[in-house]
Amino acid sequence: MTKDGTLSLVLIWILIAKGGAVCPDGFCRHSDGCYRTVALNVTWIDARSYCEVLGGALLSPVSQSMATAAEGALRRMKGTIFPGKFWLDFTDLLNPKDWKRMNDKKALNFTNWESTSGTGTSDDGARNCVYISESLAYKWVAVSCEEKMNFLCYHAGLPPTTERYPLGSTRVYKNKHGYYDWYYEQMYEYKDVSPRDVDC
Ligand SMILES: *[C@@H]1O[C@H](CO)[C@@H](O)[C@H](O)[C@H]1NC(C)=O
Ligand SMILES: *[C@@H]1O[C@H](CO)[C@@H](O)[C@H](O)[C@H]1NC(C)=O
Repeated sequence: MTKDGTLSLVLIWILIAKGGAVCPDGFCRHSDGCYRTVALNVTWIDARSYCEVLGGALLSPVSQSMATAAEGALRRMKGTIFPGKFWLDFTDLLNPKDWKRMNDKKALNFTNWESTSGTGTSDDGARNCVYISESLAYKWVAVSCEEKMNFLCYHAGLPPTTERYPLGSTRVYKNKHGYYDWYYEQMYEYKDVSPRDVDC
């Protein structure tokens, strides 16, 4: 009991935190991001639209760790998706050989070109789009945007969501002019109701 006669009240907060972001339905977590491998055969521009419809964006790796996570997602599907080429959200359609990320229109600050099959820097015709090649160690290859192939959608993840459940009430006592007064205080439990991350 404290000096002023109020019982110290311990609110019970049970938060089953999973630490970090939650993936939207159909997306699988790899490292800090959410990935969805799609086996359809579509052009680059269609892949961009499909990813938006699926609630993400066409993959646009900006770092080695993101490229490694994407590779992890693709390795799990290895040999099951054909042709095993996955569009990236890069293009030099705006200015030849000046590769840009379409989500922020910035120049690439991380690249993972396959060294022998067209880095996009040589004069190799209308190769304005880029894919990750399963058969070439998940490196990047420049190709015509009209080719049809698979793709990988990305989502940074949603914050976890919680719901409040009543746990009953507790009496709180208060010293009022020499005698104890009391009132009820509701207690709550907070539970994580985020959709489960799918490990895939
Ligand atoms: C490239 O830029 C993006 C954002 O603009 C940043 O998140 C990323 O860490 C950068 N990558 C490297 C390798 O510096
Ligand atoms: C996509 O095309 C490949 C050939 O490049 C084919 O083997 C595969 O079955 C096609 N997939 C779909 C979903 O049509």
